[in-house]
Amino acid sequence: MPILEVRDLKKNFDKTEVLKGISFDLEEGEAISIIGSSGSGKTTLLRCLNFLETADEGTISVRGECLFDGAHPVTDAEKLRRMRLHFGLVFQQFNLFPQYTALENVTLAPLLASGGADRGAIIDNGKQLLDQMGLYDRMDNYPHQLSGGQQQRVAIARALALKPDILCFDEPTSALDPELTGEVLKVIRNLAEKKTTMIIVTHEMAFARDVADKAIFMDGGVILEQGPAKELINNPRQERTRQFLSGLAK
Ligand SMILES: Nc1ncnc2c1ncn2[C@@H]1O[C@H](COP(=O)(O)OP(=O)(O)O)[C@@H](O)[C@H]1O
Ligand SMILES: [Mg+2]
Repeated sequence: MPILEVRDLKKNFDKTEVLKGISFDLEEGEAISIIGSSGSGKTTLLRCLNFLETADEGTISVRGECLFDGAHPVTDAEKLRRMRLHFGLVFQQFNLFPQYTALENVTLAPLLASGGADRGAIIDNGKQLLDQMGLYDRMDNYPHQLSGGQQQRVAIARALALKPDILCFDEPTSALDPELTGEVLKVIRNLAEKKTTMIIVTHEMAFARDVADKAIFMDGGVILEQGPAKELINNPRQERTRQFLSGLAK
């Protein structure tokens, strides 16, 4: 059974159809990359999967359990909070809390969720995650004391601290200078090697091809093409996918 099943997801903003029926599966331990032009609906899809937006139609199931059905959207705050725990999201703009240290950023949500229980274990886990991100010696630094690449690695540790089933990235390196992009891609590559289940929206085509198992090409709110990442990016079947890929500097 796939860990994630998305079926016919639709989302309108007023009269604009932004998602026109998105369906795909993700297996546990797999990474899927989502590519496509600006405005094709990639961010909206991730926001619907994280329940930051409410899709109008379609279903989202995790481990066979239907979490979301557009016919009966959940409005109860506590239920929504629990639904969101299945997904972690790393944004383009790292969105760290500026008044908290790196370690506090990573441990804040789990400490709140536990109501103060397991404090020692949560802090140990936060330190271990920062270590895994190559930031052990930076845990007491505030965001403004860290480079963009370091801040994004803290944001990845923060998302992992809640132990999501599926970790989502929305263009995690787009706000970074090229020399900082590599260090963030490296930690995502390590996560893929450890079989972290991930959805990665990216413009880094070589990365999308080499790190992900599957790839999705979105265009105008639909999935125009999906398949094994290497095949889709090296030999796209659709003319539109070829156009998109050839328009990018390699
Ligand atoms: N909150 C919103 N209200 C109205 N339109 C939106 C909103 N969010 C996104 N859109 C529109 O939806 C389309 C897809 O946007 P987005 O999902 O951000 O695409 P991408 O991430 O692929 O660039 C765009 O035309 C955008 O203007
Ligand atoms: Mg976007």
